[in-house]
Amino acid sequence: MKLEKFISFFDKKLSDHLCGICSYTPFREIISYTPLVGGKRLRPYLIWELSRLTSFGSDRALKTGIAVELFHSGSLIHDDLPPIDNDDFRRGKPSNHSIFGEARAILAGDYLMLYPSKVISSLDLDHRYKERLMNLWSDVSLQVVEGEFADVTPSERTEELLSFIRRGKTASLFGFCFAAPFCVDDGSKFSEMFELGVDFGEIFQMMDDIKDATSTLQELGKTPGKDLSQDKLTLLSFRSVEQAEAMVEKRFYAFCEKITEYRDLAGELEDIFRLIARR
Ligand code: IPE
Ligand code: IPE
Ligand code: MG
Ligand code: MG
Ligand code: MG
Repeated sequence: MKLEKFISFFDKKLSDHLCGICSYTPFREIISYTPLVGGKRLRPYLIWELSRLTSFGSDRALKTGIAVELFHSGSLIHDDLPPIDNDDFRRGKPSNHSIFGEARAILAGDYLMLYPSKVISSLDLDHRYKERLMNLWSDVSLQVVEGEFADVTPSERTEELLSFIRRGKTASLFGFCFAAPFCVDDGSKFSEMFELGVDFGEIFQMMDDIKDATSTLQELGKTPGKDLSQDKLTLLSFRSVEQAEAMVEKRFYAFCEKITEYRDLAGELEDIFRLIARR
């Protein structure tokens, strides 16, 4: 399925799912705002597409995609808060705290980051596979918070620290998306796919760092130039835009070499890269 078609299919399922979470209606409205306001849906899309290569099944792929997208949306709500990145825009609309205030946005982010464990732990899966998936989920969800912590903690500005931040805040979640459909595989694919997803996620975050300096609010749906104005440690702390673009291209071609065995997927991943590079 092409990404555009997936987005409309997924958005409907996500919206239905959100109608059934959290019995307290005023809170549900705030929880649902950021997940439904937009987003490229790359993480659920990757789970969906990769699940075609295994016996994970479309129902589990969709539920896992919903869980990951909700977690990701919660992490964006927290990321935009004034003491973190202080961004009034997200997904082309006012960010969660700009509308509902900081206190409620913090709690909506908490809910969205905690709720996915409930979804993943209730998947109808053989207990061996579920344990594997849950273990990875616990590790990855903690790594995202560690990565965000390192991102806001002034420290020595080294490439090692940058790589730790990138892997934690972004790439580990992509690792989970690549690996999840392979939890039903009894060989070593689960961990191989995790590493492949981390690789994809690192390239993704490098592109995000470049776009922060080169794109507009309209293209990004979030405020550009924030990394520089907040003195963030990013790829552009060590390289010019041209050098960074060349590096990303090289990493992307090396990544494509690694995925030649997944022929169908390779075309779709290239489309995704083109789409991200454009925005
Ligand atoms: C934004 O992720 C946060 C980063 C990890 C850089 P996306 O670019 O996937 O954001 P949405 O989901 O499309 O809004
Ligand atoms: C945020 O990274 C990653 C998470 C929310 C975990 P960024 O701060 O670079 O993301 P954007 O640029 O605000 O989307
Ligand atoms: Mg940030
Ligand atoms: Mg940010
Ligand atoms: Mg960014």
